Amino acid sequence: MKTIIGSDLNLAKTLLYEGKLVAIPTETVYGLAANALNAEAVFDIFKVKERPAFDPLIVHIPSLECIDKYAMNVPALAYELAKTIWPGPLTLVLPKKSIIPDLVSSGLPTVGLRMPSHPLTLELLNSLEFPLAAPSANPFGYISPTTAKHVNDQLGGKIPYILDGGPCRVGLESTIVGFEGDEILIYRLGGLTLEAIRKIAPNCKLALNTSSNPQAPGMLKSHYASRHPLYIGEITSLIKKFAGKKIGIISFKDDFSASSDVLQQEILSATGNLDEAAVKLFSAMRSLDAFSLDIILSETFPDTGLGRAINDRLKRASS
Ligand code: TXA
Ligand code: MG
Repeated sequence: MKTIIGSDLNLAKTLLYEGKLVAIPTETVYGLAANALNAEAVFDIFKVKERPAFDPLIVHIPSLECIDKYAMNVPALAYELAKTIWPGPLTLVLPKKSIIPDLVSSGLPTVGLRMPSHPLTLELLNSLEFPLAAPSANPFGYISPTTAKHVNDQLGGKIPYILDGGPCRVGLESTIVGFEGDEILIYRLGGLTLEAIRKIAPNCKLALNTSSNPQAPGMLKSHYASRHPLYIGEITSLIKKFAGKKIGIISFKDDFSASSDVLQQEILSATGNLDEAAVKLFSAMRSLDAFSLDIILSETFPDTGLGRAINDRLKRASS
């Protein structure tokens, strides 16, 4: 199959109506989209990604009003979060209506809903009569794509169209939350920070679901993995420990290239800005992966703001 890369919304729309797959840009990462109400089209997503059927998909919608089309018993807090953050990097896990095929939710009684913030994709969603199921547009277990080229590098030849919306503005997948009583359950830390959630729900208890829970396979312990083994810690001592190896480095702001074992280095933000580091993280992992190295070493990032989600991805990539 020939994969076309472009920004033709009409072509994207036609393909989606035909039940075909289209990679779409969002502010977080690129998604691999299909008509969420068409189980056969959704099945193709699992095939192309080689994704296990127990890993549910997020359903992308064009507006707040769509929440009630696809979910029920929606807590007031869910509307409040959506109203404040959407379009944006937040996925709400809510009891699903039966119109959502069981394949989308992997048999769970809930569905993840998200209104992404990207002008092309919002225009596309608004032109369709159905929502879009879309996981990150990478083979299962690998690093998520943040450019159209990343998508093409791995899924080129397997999908007809990549809608090119430029590089992703956030660079980390959405934060996924569910609700239990008055509690907000964080299934996956991502592009929306805990601090931002606390601001909207100051009196609400936040529970972090850190285990490898099959309910949220985005939380699987080994995920987002690079080809080269990755170790996290204090770089100077790790370089000593792995002396003689061909080393690639991911650092926040410091330069470690003076060591002769360091062949490649990715500094994510010379000014120490975590938002900038998040944008660059997955590209840096991909570009180090392309070199002939023995190992990748990464620093632990500050445990605040997007630093938490960056550390989460690094940890999973290192398991
Ligand atoms: O930013 C994002 O969320 C991107 C863009 C494309 O929107 N999508 C994304 O999808 O990261 P994916 O499939 O790579 O990760 C979605 C994760 C699943 O692994 C699963 O853990 C969780 O969302 N999920 C989806 N539906 C769920 C549900 N009903 N209950 C619990 N977790 C759910
Ligand atoms: Mg993914």
